[in-house]
Amino acid sequence: MKTIYFDNNATTKVAEEVLEEIQPLFCDLYGNPSSMHTFGGQIGRRIGRAREQAAALLGCEPSEIVFTGCGTESDNTAISGTLAAAPNKRKVITTRVEHPAVLTVCRELENRGYTVVELGVDSQGRLDLAELGRELDDNTALVTIMYANNETGTVFPVEEIARLVRSKGAVFHTDAVQIVGKIPLNLKDSAIDLLSLSGHKLHAPKGVGILYVRKGTRLSPFMLGGHQEAGRRAGTENVPGIVGLGKACELAAVNLQEENSKVKYLRDKLEKALMEKCPDCRLNGDPDNRLPNTCNISFEYIEGEAILLMLDKYGICASSGSACTSGSLEPSHVLRAMGVPFTAAHGSIRFSLSRYNTEEEVDFTIEHMPAIVNQLRELSPFVPK
Ligand SMILES: Cc1ncc(COP(=O)(O)O)c(C=O)c1O
Repeated sequence: MKTIYFDNNATTKVAEEVLEEIQPLFCDLYGNPSSMHTFGGQIGRRIGRAREQAAALLGCEPSEIVFTGCGTESDNTAISGTLAAAPNKRKVITTRVEHPAVLTVCRELENRGYTVVELGVDSQGRLDLAELGRELDDNTALVTIMYANNETGTVFPVEEIARLVRSKGAVFHTDAVQIVGKIPLNLKDSAIDLLSLSGHKLHAPKGVGILYVRKGTRLSPFMLGGHQEAGRRAGTENVPGIVGLGKACELAAVNLQEENSKVKYLRDKLEKALMEKCPDCRLNGDPDNRLPNTCNISFEYIEGEAILLMLDKYGICASSGSACTSGSLEPSHVLRAMGVPFTAAHGSIRFSLSRYNTEEEVDFTIEHMPAIVNQLRELSPFVPK
């Protein structure tokens, strides 16, 4: 049975071009980039090239790129590193819909005496910028707000937020793990100070990430040890990961248009058909400001996990929450923050597409999904009689 992979917000396939680029780095070009010999220097140059490729995608200077171990590490570093560099400020502002890589760190800060404000969202997952304006004060060290939500795809007006935060003298970090490679970014012209991304969300291997650090931003290193990454992130570099991420950034720049046209066309086709063919369902997220690849639908009266199991029988991979929260029967914290009713939050399914999906895969899913929903509803005690 063929696998139909609609779970690209959880992780993505490594692009063939990326694999080709990194293969020689395991058994042939395996030197340590910090070594003095020519062999090591060759590897160091590959890391330099990856830094340039990443900077080109983000529209920043190569020196502003810090390679990390993953998106989670980038988020943790941004938060902890900013607070360590500004010990006199004791307030952090975030949102209730962040990924656990941010939310868990912020909640832990409360135990250390920080004031942490979690901004709420409306029923479509949108923020109230006036509320952010009211919360920003002289004691605010950091505002950390995601660029796009991993569960609903809702995109926040991050450029506007960054300007507001800068005008109040705080540092602004954004978790851009889900948006990099999907919309064009130009950090040179933006007020974002720190930005996190993760390789495995844009067709690079797992276990590598980037923290963009605007020149002049005060940040204490999180990982201490060697002098790698100009002393900003110690530890021998994950060379294949970094080189693969560089190549993935280059490919993402080339494929941005396709992400926005082909992928969006397929997502829209799938979404429209499912909403039409399945009664009692609702779209979760901001319909006007959304990632082009993400579709989150709640099917009332049935369990998302049951839908996933039935889809799995057809080889269709989707998700009933973020990869980190699925496995728990608690409805997603994002949908709860949006006030999605309990019965709908439990039956939510996220389809997240990539440029590797085809129209046949979408048509196949449209053919089978309504029957799955009907079958489960026939068994459900929650359907009103
Ligand atoms: C929005 C967001 N932030 C952070 C992460 C964590 O990234 P990583 O898996 O590279 O640690 C994820 C992963 O799902 C994510 O979706």
